[in-house]
Amino acid sequence: MASLASNPLAQLEHICKTFPAQRGEVVACDDISLTVTKGQSLGVVGESGSGKSTLVRILLMLIPPTSGQVWLHGHDVTHLPEHRLKPFRRHVQFVAQDPLSALMPNLTVAENIAEPLWIHKVGDKESRRKTTLALMEKVGLASELWNSFPSELSGGQQQRVVIARALALMPELIVLDEAVSSLDVSIQAQILNLLQTLKEDMELTYVFISHNLAVIRLMCEQTAVMYKGRIIEFGDSEALFAHPLHPYTQALIDSIPAFTAQGVTPLRAVGRRTAETSGSTVAGCPYHPRCPLASETCRRERPELRWIGDRQVACHHAETMNASQVVSG
Ligand SMILES: Nc1ncnc2c1ncn2[C@@H]1O[C@H](COP(=O)(O)OP(=O)(O)OP(=O)(O)O)[C@@H](O)[C@H]1O
Ligand code: SF4
Ligand SMILES: [Mg+2]
Repeated sequence: MASLASNPLAQLEHICKTFPAQRGEVVACDDISLTVTKGQSLGVVGESGSGKSTLVRILLMLIPPTSGQVWLHGHDVTHLPEHRLKPFRRHVQFVAQDPLSALMPNLTVAENIAEPLWIHKVGDKESRRKTTLALMEKVGLASELWNSFPSELSGGQQQRVVIARALALMPELIVLDEAVSSLDVSIQAQILNLLQTLKEDMELTYVFISHNLAVIRLMCEQTAVMYKGRIIEFGDSEALFAHPLHPYTQALIDSIPAFTAQGVTPLRAVGRRTAETSGSTVAGCPYHPRCPLASETCRRERPELRWIGDRQVACHHAETMNASQVVSG
């Protein structure tokens, strides 16, 4: 199982998820086991269609897996009916890409933030008012915005409201799926700083999905790299970004735009794949058609996730990557 430490907040065990498609089915998640450890924020990266959002929707108990188990705080919540899921839901909150669609347009800022307190019947009217005011202060929203409506706010302010709302029930785990990618770069930095501060103040753990690897490196102690519904590399973020052991991770890192005299150019393009190509449809290693290190073994045998030091890698030739990095320094 992909885990580096004990004290699990949430665990996914052998999660598979398929969706019906025009031709057969799409394998969005293919036998994923993953532990989210308290205090160890986890980044999930991978190209479009690799299954990142499906994985976190299963973790958030928004959709059931086709097979496998979801554990929260040591409880198997996979098949719990909705009324028994309610106490678990408050521990795990979600911040999505588009803040406006996450907020109720006809409720004020204060009402949007306080709504989870009403739903979970936390406190009385006065305590909810105080909590809402404190949350607005915590996320840097002026109290003058109390009666504003979401459409009257900037994108950054809207995302602050979504974050305040997510914090209302004092969760332990917040899942952020491309939570800053729709914001201007300077606003992104402000929201990331806010999230860092909240993480320390409130002992939060994040699961962070982003196409921006720099964001993952900044925000997450651990990183899981997904390819076609599988985790193909997992480990400490600093070590993984400095010395990737899977050729696909290397290609992802190489695709980070670099500033050159000619402008901003990716070092190497990593193609964005579509729904039709998701899932393990090729024999052997799913990455072999694109891999510069592919061998006969790769074309024949699917590599399983295995430990190399404190890293997990699904590659037959990870030792070659490791050795070349040691040699090249
Ligand atoms: N509700 C659904 N019905 C059918 N197919 C789906 C559904 N949700 C996801 N998929 C398919 O599952 C695969 C994984 O999708 P998912 O949204 O999890 O990828 P992703 O890594 O989050 O991509 P992106 O980076 O573009 O957000 C894709 O092929 C997608 O088309
Ligand atoms: S198993 Fe082979 S094809 Fe797959 S990533 Fe490793 S070297 Fe490349
Ligand atoms: Mg997604």
